[in-house]
Amino acid sequence: MLAGTMLAACYAPADGAAELTLREVDTPEPGPGEVRVRIAVSGVNPTDWKTRKRTPPAGLELAIPNQDGAGTIDAVGPGVDPARVGERVWVLMAARYGSGGTAAEYTVLPNDHAVRLPEDASFELGASLGVPALTAAYCLGVDGPVTGRNVLVAGGAGAVGHAAIELARFEGAAHVAATVSGPAKGELAAAAGAHTIVDYRAADAVEQIKAAMPDGVDRFIEVALHQNLELDLAVAGQHAVIVAYAADPDDVAAVPVRRLMAANLTLRFMLLYTVPAAALTDAIERTSSALAAGALTALPIHRFSLDQIAAAHDAVEQGAVGKVVVDLR
Ligand SMILES: NC(=O)c1ccc[n+]([C@@H]2O[C@H](COP(=O)([O-])OP(=O)(O)OC[C@H]3O[C@@H](n4cnc5c(N)ncnc54)[C@H](OP(=O)(O)O)[C@@H]3O)[C@@H](O)[C@H]2O)c1
Repeated sequence: MLAGTMLAACYAPADGAAELTLREVDTPEPGPGEVRVRIAVSGVNPTDWKTRKRTPPAGLELAIPNQDGAGTIDAVGPGVDPARVGERVWVLMAARYGSGGTAAEYTVLPNDHAVRLPEDASFELGASLGVPALTAAYCLGVDGPVTGRNVLVAGGAGAVGHAAIELARFEGAAHVAATVSGPAKGELAAAAGAHTIVDYRAADAVEQIKAAMPDGVDRFIEVALHQNLELDLAVAGQHAVIVAYAADPDDVAAVPVRRLMAANLTLRFMLLYTVPAAALTDAIERTSSALAAGALTALPIHRFSLDQIAAAHDAVEQGAVGKVVVDLR
């Protein structure tokens, strides 16, 4: 390696190439208000392969993927407290900035997008937080605290679902139910703290959820609205809120307007990249509180090295159960 260079996984949007290759590129320098993080563990999320294959950054010669990661601040730019050098951090939305994502030895990002990682939290846990935990925190908090509320987390073994169960429990939800597709995923949702676990394909899924929450569900954290809207409506309480955070490009949900009216129901949608700044700050703070209290855990880890980055992305694309990470230590 030449001085001033680093190893990074790259693809070439300008050439229309989604293929990932390892390259030696310039090590980024932090500008005003920025920090540089030496990445220990990079987290892989569905958004990383989807961005690479479906919506690559227009015209960029080389792009470095992966929004999430954890590591240690090794340099700060003008205007940032030099005492942050040496701080363990988890990062968010790293690939949204010029230097690229966390599939590299270093990334540079705004000071407030590198958040303190407590000493007792592993880099693997830190790399699991960004996209999943902030999405979960936003969905749970957008209509006020879930304290004392009944929450249904669809897909409770997924990365967002896992964080949503743990955060809902930490924030004092009255009852947290999760749907899953089988026993192995049920065990993960139970370990996260769900009070009730229901196979959403069971013929009596509605009855099981109603038995657990006779007053109805107040908040839905919904991964597949187009498939689950009927189930959600069947178990919703008055003034319930469904927050839908996932869809494939062709997914369409038919909305039975009259039934939503009768339940005074709110149907919400969210995309983490475009939530208002104040809501993102709130999600970061609540995630940090839960982390400091030891209330957040990592899913079972699937570990890859940087030269296995393509396999790591493929594993997520194929629906790996657990957390896929790239270890750069
Ligand atoms: N809007 C945003 O900003 C945002 C943020 C984060 C993630 N996302 C999107 O959200 C989705 C999930 O992300 P993730 O990281 O949590 O993925 P993940 O770890 O793969 O989890 C997805 C989970 O959803 C479950 N699932 C699929 N269909 C379901 C259904 N009809 N009912 C209940 N559960 C169902 C899957 O299990 P089974 O298939 O076995 O049921 C799986 O456990 C991805 O599409 C991702 O791109 C969006």
